[in-house]
Amino acid sequence: MNVLGIETSCDETSAAVVRDGREVLSCVVHTQAQHRPFGGVVPEIASRCHIRLLPEIVERAVAESGVGWGGLDLVAATRGPGLASSLLVGWSAAKGLAMRTGLPLRAVNHIEAHLHSVFLDPAAPDPLECFPRLGLAVSGGHTNLFRMPEEGRIELVGRTVDDAAGEALDKAAKLLGLGYPGGPVVDRLSRGRTPRAGLFPEGRVREGALTGGLDPELCLSFSGLKTALLHRVQASPPRDAEETAQLACDYQEAVVGALVRRCERALGDARYLAVGGGVSLNSRLREALGELCARRGVRLLLALPRHCGDNAAMIAGLAGTGRGVPSPAAFDLDVAPSWAV
Ligand code: KG4
Ligand code: ZN
Repeated sequence: MNVLGIETSCDETSAAVVRDGREVLSCVVHTQAQHRPFGGVVPEIASRCHIRLLPEIVERAVAESGVGWGGLDLVAATRGPGLASSLLVGWSAAKGLAMRTGLPLRAVNHIEAHLHSVFLDPAAPDPLECFPRLGLAVSGGHTNLFRMPEEGRIELVGRTVDDAAGEALDKAAKLLGLGYPGGPVVDRLSRGRTPRAGLFPEGRVREGALTGGLDPELCLSFSGLKTALLHRVQASPPRDAEETAQLACDYQEAVVGALVRRCERALGDARYLAVGGGVSLNSRLREALGELCARRGVRLLLALPRHCGDNAAMIAGLAGTGRGVPSPAAFDLDVAPSWAV
């Protein structure tokens, strides 16, 4: 089963062909650099870029896959969550391609696809054997924890009530004058440093409207952390690059600590922990999750670096396992910017 996947939920324009849910035959990803001067993604610019780039990117993905248009069995695309105007480009393109080629269509959830990205690594075990599993999707747009007790079941058990972890790192980097996106810079500056303990508070979440019925102990809040950094920088601005790097390291440790503690609390009887999304590239997070899993006898599943950020291989891969909404119903669906898993 060869699936053509399309991903345009944010600022990556991507197309890929994946066989049987796991074997990546091709994956073309274009990250739009146009947003850098703005310090964040500008939706209007993103959708225009998707429109301009997607046709050629799809053609390249099909050509590089070696199977050609005639060798495809399914078209899949991200229907949500994401920026409405960005989603619309990829989802409409997928509908058009499916109609033109007569192939079936499948609507895929972007966050669930991040969790599937770990299985695009040929060294990963068979997903059907990896239960009970805990999944952490952590990126610039989302921070969600899921329990997957058995095949076909996925339950949201925790999430951020305000900023996503990547957003928290990006905002901190902006405040420290380190540019955008900040996650990779903060990661690099923190390597080889020892974080100072207790400098930043861990955001506590109270039961209430924001948690939407989820256990507050499994939810996260990063907005207080960002404010704490702002106050600290206002009270005593870092005097040089060394002090800035140390602050970035302390801040990163607070973000990583919060994520790892939620994972630990949510583990229960899980024997696998799957982590996907741009922030899962973070070297300190990888190390800390590795320690947690070793201590708890859990197998840690991390995506290959090229599949951590937004990419269409995870979309085609997930669709290839039979997840998502199939056609004919898919043809009647509009994009879903806040589509919950
Ligand atoms: O998954 P992704 O490409 O797009 C979204 O769906 O958001 O994730 C982008 C996020 C950004 O916030 C970026 O700063 C963060 O992932 N990121 C990192 C690292 N590389 C990317 N955060 C921490 N450490 C990294 N090495
Ligand atoms: Zn994403």
